Amino acid sequence: MSFLETKSLTRRFGGLTAVDKVDFRLDPGEIRAVIGPNGAGKTTLVSMICGRVAPSDGAIQFDGVDITHLPPWERVARGIVYTFQITSVFRNLSCFENVALAAQRALTLGKAPWHAIDRATLAASVSSALERVELHERHETPAANLPYGHQRLLEVAMSLALKPKLLVLDEPTQGLSEAEITNFCKLVREIAADATILLIEHNMDVVMELAQRITVMNNGAILAEGTPAEITANAAVQQAYLGA
Ligand SMILES: Nc1ncnc2c1ncn2[C@@H]1O[C@H](COP(=O)(O)OP(=O)(O)OP(=O)(O)O)[C@@H](O)[C@H]1O
Ligand SMILES: [Mg+2]
Repeated sequence: MSFLETKSLTRRFGGLTAVDKVDFRLDPGEIRAVIGPNGAGKTTLVSMICGRVAPSDGAIQFDGVDITHLPPWERVARGIVYTFQITSVFRNLSCFENVALAAQRALTLGKAPWHAIDRATLAASVSSALERVELHERHETPAANLPYGHQRLLEVAMSLALKPKLLVLDEPTQGLSEAEITNFCKLVREIAADATILLIEHNMDVVMELAQRITVMNNGAILAEGTPAEITANAAVQQAYLGA
């Protein structure tokens, strides 16, 4: 059995089928990229995996459990963590407070609501997440005062505080500079040492650099899947997406 497996997963929006009977499998420890033209269904597919969008049909298994109908927070508790396509930090809160909110959730999930969190444990967890994205010197800085690239890193720190087994990143490098993208790739490789990564990405340099395998979506279905070399050589993929 796979780490993550969707069976005939489908999502319709009115007359439009955004994701059409998708069988998708992911092995533990993998860095997988999902690519495809705008509107291919990438965000909808991962949104169903994370529980933000309910499937119209089909099933999702994660870590041996059927999670098809679990609410998003129960998926987070099982280790499925998602960063949004659009930056979603709390602008008026400091970096520390942003990550603390996420860490607090990680530390209290599955516990009684009155469960007291030890402040030292929380602070250690927040500091370690901020250190991993190299924002530890900006603890007190309000998120709104960070440059855009650092806001995205703050988002990653918030995800790390949730202790992901599967980290889903939806277009994380959008709007980043070349130098920030290089650092980001290094960070993703570090995170992959103890998490599986599912990365939606339009920047093909990033895809080729990070992904062990690539899934290509088109019109709500999987068009091709393979190693970066196989995908680059695939004629159907070139026609649908790579624009060759
Ligand atoms: N909430 C929604 N209501 C109606 N239609 C939607 C909704 N979400 C997505 N869609 C439609 O479903 C299709 C797939 O959208 P989706 O966002 O999954 O594509 P994508 O591959 O992530 O595209 P992009 O690369 O632009 O982010 C599109 O035609 C989109 O307009
Ligand atoms: Mg999308």
